[in-house]
Amino acid sequence: MISEYQTAEKALAYLEIADSIPCRAQGERVVLELLPKSINRVLDLGTGDGRLLTLVLLAHPNAHGIATDFSPTMLEKARVRFDQDARVEVLSHDFRDSILKWGELDAVVSSFAIHHVEDDRKFEIYQEIFQILKPGGVFVNLEHVASPTEKLHDDFLSAMGMTRESEDQSNRCLSASTQLSWLSQIGYENVDCFWKWRELAVLSGAKPNIS
Ligand SMILES: C[S@@+](CC[C@H](N)C(=O)[O-])C[C@H]1O[C@@H](n2cnc3c(N)ncnc32)[C@H](O)[C@@H]1O
Repeated sequence: MISEYQTAEKALAYLEIADSIPCRAQGERVVLELLPKSINRVLDLGTGDGRLLTLVLLAHPNAHGIATDFSPTMLEKARVRFDQDARVEVLSHDFRDSILKWGELDAVVSSFAIHHVEDDRKFEIYQEIFQILKPGGVFVNLEHVASPTEKLHDDFLSAMGMTRESEDQSNRCLSASTQLSWLSQIGYENVDCFWKWRELAVLSGAKPNIS
């Protein structure tokens, strides 16, 4: 079944507004702050045109990146962006499939992407990320989370210049608190919401080091 984001129309519509998402740069700065000092391999889930991975590689020029997405349009944009960059592999991957094939990562990052899958799969993805992280590795997710009340959701939409009709119907947003409790339950440590503006949040946890 083709999902909305796999259409060129949807992917291009997102890229057109991507730069104007309020406070986005603040969230991205916090993502970079939370990464380990030294990164050899980093995975970006739902990379879109590769924006977040580009920032990670600017901060960690010796890292190797895997950029994944399931939208042909996004994959093409990411391939163009990383065309001359031998550090990056751009791969087609649907979140509904296991990510265990990419083991031994120092960091897994994602921005505004995992909220497109159903909650039971979100939980499984967080478990799989835990398995593929090296001890001491971190998962940092700049994510669209659910508001605690309908009014706050309407306020968020209004701040974004959207309405209930125009908001992304493929969103499956979940509260930050539920996602943080899942990360702790799975075994991540130092779990917290490190930044939040309305429905945009940075959720992160680390895989404990072996002592
Ligand atoms: C809102 S865009 C964010 C893109 C990019 N991470 C950014 O921050 O600009 C959501 C991304 O998630 C991808 N996506 C949505 N559902 C997906 C799925 N089931 N598997 C893989 N990627 C998915 C979309 O193709 C799109 O690139």
